[in-house]
Amino acid sequence: MARIQTTFLFNFFFFMCFMLFSIFPINNFILVHSLHQKQHFDVLNVASSIHKTLQIFSKTSPQIRYPNRPLIPTTVTPTNSSVLSLSLHPHVSIVKPRHQNYSALTLSRLASDSARVSSIHSKLQLAIPKPVLKDLQAPITSGESQGTFEYLARVGFGRPVKEFYMTIDTGSNINWLQCQPCDSCYKQSDPIFDPPGQPVLILYHAPRSSVILLVSTGVVVTRVGSVDNVAVGCGHDNEGLFYGSAGLIGLGAGDLSFPSQIKATSFSYCLVDMDSHSSSTLEFNSVPPSDSIIVPMVHNPKFDAFFYVDLVGISVAGQQLSIQPSIFQVQPDGSGGVIVDSGTVVTRLVTQAYNSLRDTFVKYATNLPSTSGYSLFDTCFDLSSVPDDVKVPAVSFHFSGGKTLPLNSRNCLFPVDSRGKFCFAFAPSESVSIIGNIQQQETRVSYDLTSKLIGFSPNKC
Ligand SMILES: *[C@@H]1O[C@H](CO)[C@@H](O)[C@H](O)[C@H]1NC(C)=O
Ligand SMILES: *[C@@H]1O[C@H](CO)[C@@H](O)[C@H](O)[C@H]1NC(C)=O
Repeated sequence: MARIQTTFLFNFFFFMCFMLFSIFPINNFILVHSLHQKQHFDVLNVASSIHKTLQIFSKTSPQIRYPNRPLIPTTVTPTNSSVLSLSLHPHVSIVKPRHQNYSALTLSRLASDSARVSSIHSKLQLAIPKPVLKDLQAPITSGESQGTFEYLARVGFGRPVKEFYMTIDTGSNINWLQCQPCDSCYKQSDPIFDPPGQPVLILYHAPRSSVILLVSTGVVVTRVGSVDNVAVGCGHDNEGLFYGSAGLIGLGAGDLSFPSQIKATSFSYCLVDMDSHSSSTLEFNSVPPSDSIIVPMVHNPKFDAFFYVDLVGISVAGQQLSIQPSIFQVQPDGSGGVIVDSGTVVTRLVTQAYNSLRDTFVKYATNLPSTSGYSLFDTCFDLSSVPDDVKVPAVSFHFSGGKTLPLNSRNCLFPVDSRGKFCFAFAPSESVSIIGNIQQQETRVSYDLTSKLIGFSPNKC
């Protein structure tokens, strides 16, 4: 009897343990713990990042790639609500860089990036009606040709359809491509467009760059869908800034930009790692992913060509930086604010916010051996002898309405050479802040042009 009772109690003990773990499985404790950790740190795979930097220059990497599948000219669909989808590729995956190695490529990317940011400052300073306090750092050119242009969309023009790799730019308001006859054309990967018929109108004349003529090339064909009567400029005398791409698709808010011309209600893109051979899409009129972090677009009363968001704070490893949200606000005179830009590489933050972010990141990055700065980066790490996977303090952007966008480790540490030097991929700015494309990588960014909202959906390429 005593023995039976013991067996019963013993079984009962195991039964209760089983029930307890069914209700609170031990895995849950581990999961909750790691989620908590994940918010504070993210893992960077150093070897994989370095491998990509070498892959770009490997002998097996073809000079120019073409997609396997040609664009099929579907029926013309001139309605404004049809979904259009273009394939979107990192520049280095289509056109092999002219540079000898990854450090040289980085230096050239960063130099173009500085020119881009100067041109944004110049445009804003011109729009702000007050004496310019500082000398402008860049010559005032069209601004339609400044940037790094790390991503190319595959677009077809005309009938029969001719396909081109085109740079995309949220900071530009016209579409143009190089055309025959060429007074001066830089090298592009596709044959130069030979427009049917005569150009009809001088659209645009910039002192130091192209004269662009408006042509009615008509139909534009994408991976999904096509659209008629799109005006695209022809450049017959072009500078070499766009090396590889045939021209530009302007995604800005102006009347002649691509979204405005096709009366798109929205567009979205996902930028894959700029050093990878992956691809993604640029889409018009599609529904944003359901898990998007949706924040209002902010209106700049003095300049409406850029897309601004209401950033209110930043945190590192779960610690909120002690900065006033007002330092990110657009001022009544049009200065300040935070732009989301597809053509800027490195995120710029007003100096006070940058300093606080950098100091807090360094405070939590004690496991990362620090080294000298590099070009516009003042905070770099030598990861050549760390384990493959290193823990990196997690940075998050906080927007009005309590919305948080978590960045991953590759959004924060950027390889600058192939030997393991990585830099903290942010830089200071005097007035305006700009969320650049290192920080947008691997996130689908959606621009709802009707409701004036911007959506961020991490890991949705
Ligand atoms: C097309 O755009 C116009 C305004 O530009 C709008 O009134 C109309 O509802 C749109 N049509 C569709 C089908 O979305
Ligand atoms: C990279 O190329 C540049 C010239 O483009 C050269 O000066 C530099 O030494 C090279 N660096 C490495 C690590 O090979």
